Parts: sequence; C-alpha cells; structure tokens
Amino acid sequence: MLAVDHGYFLGPIRGLENPRRTINPLLPYVDAVMLTRGILRTSIDPETDVPVVLRVSGGNTIDGPVLGNEEIVTAVDDAIRLNVSALAFSIYVGTEFEHQTLKALARLVDAGERYGIPILAVTAVGRELEKRTAKYIGLACRVAAELGAHFIKTYYTEDFHRVVDSVPVPLVIAGGPKLETDLDVLQLAYNAVSEGAAGIDFGRNVFQNPNPIGMIKALRGIVHEGLTPNEALELLKPEKIKA
Ligand code: 5RP
Repeated sequence: MLAVDHGYFLGPIRGLENPRRTINPLLPYVDAVMLTRGILRTSIDPETDVPVVLRVSGGNTIDGPVLGNEEIVTAVDDAIRLNVSALAFSIYVGTEFEHQTLKALARLVDAGERYGIPILAVTAVGRELEKRTAKYIGLACRVAAELGAHFIKTYYTEDFHRVVDSVPVPLVIAGGPKLETDLDVLQLAYNAVSEGAAGIDFGRNVFQNPNPIGMIKALRGIVHEGLTPNEALELLKPEKIKA
C-alpha cells in the first residue's frame, strides 16, 4: 500500500506538495492507495482501478495544541459513493484521546459491517515516536482487533513476531519518518514481512525518496517476490517521473 494521506494533519509536506504529481506515477506499482476524500476527488484519475483505502479520521493539525483529537470526518455514504475498498481511522492508545478514538473506531466498524466495508485501524503515536515498543504496539493492535478492525496499520518493533502472534488480523507496517539510507527502508520492509506482517503501507520513505518509482518497485519486490534487501536495492535504478 502507498500512504499519501499525510496532508490531513501535516498539510503540504515535502514530496506531497502537489499530490497529483507525486501520486499518479506511483499508482501502477501499488496494490492500494491510502488517502483522504479531498485528494481522491481532486488529484486521482477517476478511471484508476487501484483500490482506495480512505482515511476518514481527522480534526487536528500539527499546529494545534495536541495530536490525537480525531473524530470520524467522512460519512460512510460518501465513502460508498466514492467506491472505496476500505476505511482508515487512527486510534491514540495511552493518550487523553484513547476513549474517544476507540469508541469512534468501534462505531466505524459497525458502519462498515453494515455495507461490507473493511476497516483499517491505524495505531498512531503522534509526535511520540519513542512509544513504538513491542508492549505498546502489542496493546494497541490487540485492542483494535478486539474492537473489530479488519486490518491494522502499525509500526515495526523489536519482537514484532510476538505482536503478530497475539493479533488475529493482518498487520501492515508504516514507514515512519524518512530513514537515512535506501537499504534501511528495504530492511525495514523485509524484517516486517519476514516476521509476519501481511504487507507495508509506506508513505514518506517512498515519496520523499529522490527515486520514488525505484523505491516502490524495490519494496514491491520484497513484499511480493521475496527479494532480500540487497536484491531489491538493484531495482532502485533512476527513473524520471513525468509531471
Ligand atoms: C499517521 C499516518 C500517516 O498519515 C501516514 O499514513 C504514515 O505513513 P508513513 O509513516 O509511511 O509516512 O498514518 O499516523
């Protein structure tokens, strides 16, 4: 999966200033794209057949007092009209917004079940990246699964196989902030799928790469063809993105 939903709280971050220009050249190489309805409506060719995972949580920004104060901001009716394949909602376990976001996730699962739309829970940590321990990720993912999430976007962590073992739904891994080297990105994806992640949902580590098409192809090679990080690195040959 390609994550390009960042603007819902970060605005025009590096690499996603012009969503259409960034996203469209990458679509042929992804299994699904995660974005908001505003970007879907304005920046994606309506004829594209790439499945859409629609982010439906929001209501805060990086400039606001605190991250995590999110609610459901898109009606399921509109998601159906947009013909999306799944809905994504962030939960903020361990914060003052834990109760609010968990209840909203459960409401979204109810709405999704009514129409047969799967729900992706995102175990968000806001600015507190150091929270990404096996204990925290294990707790957040298990709670999301218990509330009915059909799949979960989370972070890779030490002892990740234990998290996978204790969570009965598929996990996809976020890339997080841009890593230092290409090999670091590929190694992260490789470790995650080797330890049982169903796949990845990378954003910044793809579209902030100077060669995003090469990176998405290399990541695809790891997830779908079982390439090692070094084999995948070979696929990172420079390619020009058309405007
Ligand atoms: C924040 C998010 C982001 O909007 C995004 O999807 C993260 O992707 P990446 O970390 O790979 O850039 O889910 O919680």
